[in-house]
Amino acid sequence: MAKLKTVDQPLTENNVTSESLFKNRRNILKSMGFVGAGALLTTPQSSTAFSLFGDDPQFQTRALPHKKNSNYIASDAITSEAKATSYNNFYEFGTGKDDPKDNAQGLTVDPWSLIVDGEVEKPLKLDYDALYNSFDIEERIYRFRCVEAWSMVIPWLGFPLHKLLNKALPTSKARYVAFETLYRPEEMPGQKSRFVGGGIDYPYVEGLRLDEAMHPLTLMSVGLYGKTLPPQNGAPIRLVVPWKYGFKSIKSVVRIRLTSTQPANTWNILQPREYGFYANVNPKVSHPRWSQATERRLGSGGLLGSQRIATQAFNGYSEVASLYKDLDLSKYF
Ligand code: MTE
Repeated sequence: MAKLKTVDQPLTENNVTSESLFKNRRNILKSMGFVGAGALLTTPQSSTAFSLFGDDPQFQTRALPHKKNSNYIASDAITSEAKATSYNNFYEFGTGKDDPKDNAQGLTVDPWSLIVDGEVEKPLKLDYDALYNSFDIEERIYRFRCVEAWSMVIPWLGFPLHKLLNKALPTSKARYVAFETLYRPEEMPGQKSRFVGGGIDYPYVEGLRLDEAMHPLTLMSVGLYGKTLPPQNGAPIRLVVPWKYGFKSIKSVVRIRLTSTQPANTWNILQPREYGFYANVNPKVSHPRWSQATERRLGSGGLLGSQRIATQAFNGYSEVASLYKDLDLSKYF
């Protein structure tokens, strides 16, 4: 399958290969039923369709039809797309904030395979097209709070995880949900070298309790800012759990397994004293090395950068508090 070469500089229209442009256009046209896979792209109707859908050659993304879900629109100012796609954590591509943008452009996302298995009656496998076609794609604007005490406000596109899990019919033994990121060292330099990858034992893994996974706020995201996800944000599909620290929102997911016991999560394996399983945003529970009482809202301070604002319990999503009524959140952080 065609893919971009890894480049040291952000991609521009000029240094994207014609092959990848061809692939993007072909996929759009194919999904619209316009043409067969071998059709020429210079025909008038195909180029019109292409520009209508506003393809973004910079990051191999394409516009994604969706409906806004008015129940989930944070009133905060939205972070700029440029910031959200250039200041990232994705250690498979390096530990620097601009490493993912610089090093992830060679990630092959089509073909893709997402498996749902474990404690389910009907194991499922979604291929690349099924990620976009199986459920209505909605836009939700969520606050996103990293454990490092910065935050953004992002218009995600996706579908609630419960729709996918319900399709697989969890058995009565299912109590947790385990997630796994793609393991492909040949395209992910951080998986080849412990130095580049921050000492993580890959693949990156995460987990939720079943009731957390089934909560209507929990989203499987396939896009942002009206388009498919760029590689650095976790293409082609990632988790978004807006009331938890960002490390729970695992990227480029290939497997979702329902389990009877609590699954491991990468940052907890690496530093159990600093990162727990629950990772609910909590201004009252400090990280051992810094306070979580405030956060830097990236891009909110005009030319000066970021404003410091108070952190809210559960990142402001107080409707989830009842999930934890029997839990000591300072112990289960
Ligand atoms: N998923 C994988 N596979 N690898 C990672 O390094 N980093 C996590 C999370 N998901 C990470 C990951 C962390 S620490 C954060 S804050 C968010 O992704 C960042 O998401 P963003 O770059 O889209 O803002």
